[in-house]
Amino acid sequence: MKGNIVLIGFMGTGKSTIGRELSKMLNYPLVDTDQSIVKKAGKPIPQIFEEEGEAAFRVIETEILEELAEKEGNIISTGGGIIVSERNRKILHKLGYVVWLAASPQEILERTSRNSNRPLLNGDDPEGTITRLMEERTPFYQDAAHLQIETDQLCFDEICNGIIESARYHYGTQ
Ligand code: S3P
Repeated sequence: MKGNIVLIGFMGTGKSTIGRELSKMLNYPLVDTDQSIVKKAGKPIPQIFEEEGEAAFRVIETEILEELAEKEGNIISTGGGIIVSERNRKILHKLGYVVWLAASPQEILERTSRNSNRPLLNGDDPEGTITRLMEERTPFYQDAAHLQIETDQLCFDEICNGIIESARYHYGTQ
């Protein structure tokens, strides 16, 4: 496949898990932008936010994305806020077939409440934060994505097979 498959979507929509599965199924290397940021910064995400702030995190996020520009044949899973920057959205679109994994706020709350490694949701009102951020970000996901998948009622296999079929069609017909 020419180009990459890029996974975008809100926190807790399964980007990393689906990315790992797709990588195994297609035998393509997986690039996880959050993991690349942690490697580059030399510290975990909550520590980057605490010591350097979200803006510094976003700068590294864009740098990582720019470093991917020449790559092909990868599964790229991204952090939920990567689409807020217009520059990032343009880069994502150029990187390949962009799949938006969508989920309801209730499902996201349920999935993200299991761990505390997401600094944006560690406040007093994670539900309110999810609702607000989803409202703000939905137009950006829409703008960046080639394909939207509503994941609430689907299992990982169904999601992965749907992505592979659509990506093949996309690359075969463009
Ligand atoms: C963020 C999502 C996180 C991570 C960081 C910020 C966001 O990634 O990049 O905590 O702004 O939505 P996941 O979507 O993988 O949780």
